[in-house]
Amino acid sequence: MTAQLIDGKAIAANLRQQIRQQVEERRQQGLRTPGLAVILVGTDPASQVYVSHKRKDCEEVGFISEAFDLPSETSQQALTDLIDRLNDDASIDGILLQLPLPAHLDASLLLERIRPDKDVDGFHPYNVGRLAQRIPLLRPCTPKGIMTLLHSTGQDLYGMNAVVVGASNIVGRPMAMELLLAGCTVTVTHRFTKDLAGHVGRADLVVVAAGKPGLVKGEWIKEGAIVIDVGINRQDDGKLVGDVVYETALPRAGWITPVPGGVGPMTRACLLENTLYAAQELHK
Ligand code: GUN
Repeated sequence: MTAQLIDGKAIAANLRQQIRQQVEERRQQGLRTPGLAVILVGTDPASQVYVSHKRKDCEEVGFISEAFDLPSETSQQALTDLIDRLNDDASIDGILLQLPLPAHLDASLLLERIRPDKDVDGFHPYNVGRLAQRIPLLRPCTPKGIMTLLHSTGQDLYGMNAVVVGASNIVGRPMAMELLLAGCTVTVTHRFTKDLAGHVGRADLVVVAAGKPGLVKGEWIKEGAIVIDVGINRQDDGKLVGDVVYETALPRAGWITPVPGGVGPMTRACLLENTLYAAQELHK
C-alpha cells in the first residue's frame, strides 16, 4: 500500500481562485476591496519569505495589501500606535503581525491590541476563546487550513483518535480545539510526553507540528492513518523536509501531506479566506 497524497498546493490554488472571484463580485456590486496590512519587524530571513508570499497572494486575489517593514529597533509604543491606527482604518479588514518578533517586544500585548474583528491570524484571546467555546469567528490559519485538507480526504472524522504532536499557540493548541469540534478524540503530545511512539501508533489521524525534522518515524504510523506534516525544516543541502520521515511513512499511511506543497500553501490561503470573511461579515 502507498498513501494518497493530499495536494495542499492544488487545493490552495482552487481556494485562491474562488476568493478572487468573490473579490470581483464585490467590485461589481460596488463594494469595497478587502484590505490586509502585513507588519514585519526586523530581518528574520524565514519571516521575510513568508511575508513576501502573503503579499503576493493578496495581489493574486485582488486584495489591497499594505506593507509595513519596520527596523529591528522599533519600539513597543511605535508598534502599538501603528496597530491603533490600522484598527481605526476602515479600508483595512485584517492586520497581520508576523511572528517571531525581536526579543525586546512583547508579542502577547501587541496581538491583544489588534481588534478581534481584524485579527485574521486568529491569535487574539477573544478568537481563541470563541474557538474553545465552539463558536469560532476568526480561526487560526494553519489549523483551519488543515481541517480543509482533512475534509478533502472524504473520511468521516467523528470518533477518530487524533494525535497532535506539539502544543504551540499557533498550531498545536488551536489544532486540538478544531479536531475536538470535528468530533475526534484528541491527544496533545509535547516535549514532556512519555512514549510518543505509542501515542502516534494509536492515531487514526496525526498532525505533527513540532519543528523537529524527522521526529516522527514512518514505522510508528498506524496502517491507513491520515498524516498531516506541518514541519518545514531546511536541511544543510538546502532541501525542505517535514517533521515526519516521509519515505517510511508513505507505505504505511492512508493519506499524507507532502513537504513542501502540503500545509504551507493552505495556511496562506486561509489568511485570505479570513480577510475576505472579515470584509464580508464583520465590516459590512
Ligand atoms: N509565524 C509563523 N507562522 C505564523 C503565522 O501563521 N502568522 C504570523 N503572524 N506569524 C507567523
